[in-house]
Amino acid sequence: MAFITTVVAALASLPVAFSFPIETTNNTLQARQSCTYGGTWDDFPPMSEWWAWGDIFNAYEQSMVDAGSSWDDVGRIAVAIEDAAADIGVDERVILGIILQESSGYVGVICTGGDDCGIMQCEGCPGYPGENELPQSDTSAMINGGTDHIKSNLEDFGDLDDPSSIYPALREYNSGSVDSDDLSVAAGGYGVPCYVSDIARRFMGEVF
Ligand SMILES: *[C@@H]1O[C@H](CO)[C@@H](O)[C@H](O)[C@H]1NC(C)=O
Repeated sequence: MAFITTVVAALASLPVAFSFPIETTNNTLQARQSCTYGGTWDDFPPMSEWWAWGDIFNAYEQSMVDAGSSWDDVGRIAVAIEDAAADIGVDERVILGIILQESSGYVGVICTGGDDCGIMQCEGCPGYPGENELPQSDTSAMINGGTDHIKSNLEDFGDLDDPSSIYPALREYNSGSVDSDDLSVAAGGYGVPCYVSDIARRFMGEVF
């Protein structure tokens, strides 16, 4: 009882944004051994089976709040995704899928790997560890940085709004290189094997 009282008191003294540990969700993701999808890009779900962008976003709003973003942050994430999609030329769902995979949509996510920061965990991107209630400009800066990055990956694979570009680009975003024969391989030994498969499942409306 004393222990519980102490823990509750300690938690109560932390700023709100620190009471939502994103690592828990991500560790579960990374521990999984087998991926739902694997093989070449055409072994992954076709775009005709993906949910509409707004429907995927709605399905994930609560989980982004559970991860530590405020409801206002969630609204700003939607604005930033739509702006980046239009300005940079990347499907909204691709941007959202990366956000969910990298940070569960928590605007205050830590930096990892040295300099991979922000809601899309991109190298050299701005990050706001432990914060929420960010202004639109900070939210947009993180999402523009990550969207620029995935755009350059898409360009390496034909820059089509099509699975032949999108799935290999997602692998490159995570691993830096691609084994085209199996997109569920962490190419070069770097990254998360099920990264592309997990994002494909999110495109199909699965929430996890
Ligand atoms: C979460 O996992 C992704 C890979 O799926 C990784 O790139 C990202 O840096 C991780 N985020 C944190 C906060 O550890």
